[in-house]
Amino acid sequence: MSAVHGKTIVVGVTGGIAAYKAVELCRRLVDSGAHVVPVMTESAERFIGRTTLSALSSEPVQTSLWDEASPIPHTKLGQRADLIIVAPATAHLIAAYAGGLSTDLLTNTLLATRGPVIVCPAMHTEMWEHLSVQDNLAVLRRRGVVIVEPDEGRLAGGDVGKGRLASPERIVAAAERVLGPADFVGVRVVVTAGGTREPIDAVRVIANRSSGKQGYAIAAEAASRGALVTLISTVELPTPADVELVAVETAAEMSAAVMAAAGSADVVVMAAAVADFRPAHAVDNKIKKDAGAFDLTLESTADILAGLGQRKTAGQTLVGFAAETDDLVANAEAKMRRKKLDLVVANDVSAAGVGFQHDTNAVCLLRPDTAMVTISLTDKRSVARAVLDAIAEIRLAKS
Ligand code: CTP
Repeated sequence: MSAVHGKTIVVGVTGGIAAYKAVELCRRLVDSGAHVVPVMTESAERFIGRTTLSALSSEPVQTSLWDEASPIPHTKLGQRADLIIVAPATAHLIAAYAGGLSTDLLTNTLLATRGPVIVCPAMHTEMWEHLSVQDNLAVLRRRGVVIVEPDEGRLAGGDVGKGRLASPERIVAAAERVLGPADFVGVRVVVTAGGTREPIDAVRVIANRSSGKQGYAIAAEAASRGALVTLISTVELPTPADVELVAVETAAEMSAAVMAAAGSADVVVMAAAVADFRPAHAVDNKIKKDAGAFDLTLESTADILAGLGQRKTAGQTLVGFAAETDDLVANAEAKMRRKKLDLVVANDVSAAGVGFQHDTNAVCLLRPDTAMVTISLTDKRSVARAVLDAIAEIRLAKS
């Protein structure tokens, strides 16, 4: 379950060209189980219609302090909210909020809440960089307001620079971080994802069926709980918010990247499907088919996880995966012991909807001297949540 599930979230929309993106934000929050109450300023209505925003939220849009059906909404909305998100936030809204002005329903709601607030600015680069805007943001940050900084890219009118409203994914991730458990704040987590590709010649590789989705879900979940995440990946999925990406291709590249990051890591999760064998002699040019046939000699790659197990420090938590088709638990337990792991995430990849390429997974979580936990078929983010819960328990026991 997402951290926004069951929470009442007021989404304040101000008058900027990015107001249309608030519609997608509301839809995503509702899809994740939040109760979304949209509030629009008068100028926001110049950019998007009430009907669209109402249709994709949980309640009709509210715009006025003077709504006859509800005579005191200015305090009620703020008091009810578990979280307020302002997206997009104009320079005008940021100034009013920093200055404590209550001129309309949104600014009243912001002043009436004791809950957390996320402000997502969107404006032209010159305005974003203006000292008055930056000073106002500094005031808000000091008061504990979370600022989701704008992205760089094409702005209205064709200019390019910093000022585009952050993507709905980044804003939802910030909401999950604010509302979710913060049990990984400052914890350094390294996650690997995807299948490695080992070159045969200039165009051909030996690959495997791993999509990387489970590793990405673990990286996203860890970041949303406050971890400092390095994701070492062979695939091109969208990088989760607040995650540092290291792109690699072969087992040797992955090994080098993991070893470089693991020294200072508190947790390493090897979700990648690392090749066990690679061509002993990769050919630089393309092998032509008129060769008829050729022999391919394979050699073993280094076992990254076993290497990490050898040099594991007392405080470090090591997590491996075991994708099996037979004797799931026995094979996974053997890997756990052989590689000195604290946790093994084992899945039977021959079962329907499980593991490689699917959006769903069903796993067993095995730990030395602790009863096995079974997670039946669910989405990969939910599996990631269970994996992070287990890691949190292991870290607590080590401390
Ligand atoms: N792994 C690794 N380096 C390798 C091979 C595997 O770090 N060269 C890691 C995987 O990322 C996974 C775990 O080891 O977390 C188990 O991988 P798996 O392929 O299931 O097991 P193997 O140890 O390779 O054993 P087998 O192929 O015999 O099942």
